[in-house]
Amino acid sequence: MSDPLVTVKNLRIAFAGEGGATIEAVKGVSFEVGREKLGIVGESGSGKSLSSRALMGVLPGHADVTADAMSFAGIDLLAASPRLRRQLRGNRMGMILQDPKFSLNPVMRVGAQIAEAIRLGDRSLPRAKVRRKVLDVLEAVHIRGPERVYDLYPHELSGGMGQRVMIAMMVVREPELLIADEPTSALDVTVQAQVLEIMDELVKRRGMGLVFISHDLNLVSRFCDRVLVMYAGRIVETLDARRMHEAVHPYTRGLLACLPAIDGPLTPLPTLAREASWGEARP
Ligand SMILES: Nc1ncnc2c1ncn2[C@@H]1O[C@H](COP(=O)(O)OP(=O)(O)OP(=O)(O)O)[C@@H](O)[C@H]1O
Ligand SMILES: [Mg+2]
Repeated sequence: MSDPLVTVKNLRIAFAGEGGATIEAVKGVSFEVGREKLGIVGESGSGKSLSSRALMGVLPGHADVTADAMSFAGIDLLAASPRLRRQLRGNRMGMILQDPKFSLNPVMRVGAQIAEAIRLGDRSLPRAKVRRKVLDVLEAVHIRGPERVYDLYPHELSGGMGQRVMIAMMVVREPELLIADEPTSALDVTVQAQVLEIMDELVKRRGMGLVFISHDLNLVSRFCDRVLVMYAGRIVETLDARRMHEAVHPYTRGLLACLPAIDGPLTPLPTLAREASWGEARP
């Protein structure tokens, strides 16, 4: 891959545990993101969210983060000032979280929040045009009655609506990198498909890089170009999404075997075997 958008080398994230012990949550992760859809799968607690939050620069203050390299669009993120990192988050890198509660401002009406995101990108746009753009993007994420939703506060939205509003707020800024952490978990399949379509369009039309974190191996293999498989704080496998069946790591093979076949016989699903040795460093 020439000129990757993101390069991460040997990222480690640790927390102080009880009695002065250190808990290593991410244990030396390296990957690149191009102008593509990169999926990250892996069991709960394997370090998917932490790794992507490190890239965004939004880890909790007590996290101990080290890396040999971490760059975005040629910018050395390890050397970047907090101010530059904030600026990058404001307009060039976006993140969609599973829970909209943490991304939306609870005391600001939905329309005003999206309008603010648009104005950040283009301060010269007249008010009426900004309003039109907000309504258009709400419609694009299939919010019914966008005029009404414009004036609602985040707590007045359902979970699925909140998620779509957050997606609208992110895509409207057309970031160069979008990290989507379980972005569609609260959506109906039809709405999910439309939201994926919007993200896909940004990747194809604008050359955005998308990091798509999900537990849904089926979805990831259909939607993404490449897939990283994480297990216990490490990337154990990187696969071409169309060649998931060629996975060799026992954890990935286990995941694949657990996928129910829609037209298959109703046999009990195998349970996922785990072994402590998978989490150990490989030579
Ligand atoms: N603030 C924190 N303090 C201490 N440990 C943490 C903190 N945040 C995360 N961890 C630990 O780091 C590990 C990785 O967490 P992370 O959120 O990255 O998992 P994940 O792969 O995103 O899981 P999930 O699929 O459930 O979202 C977990 O074991 C978690 O307990
Ligand atoms: Mg997570």
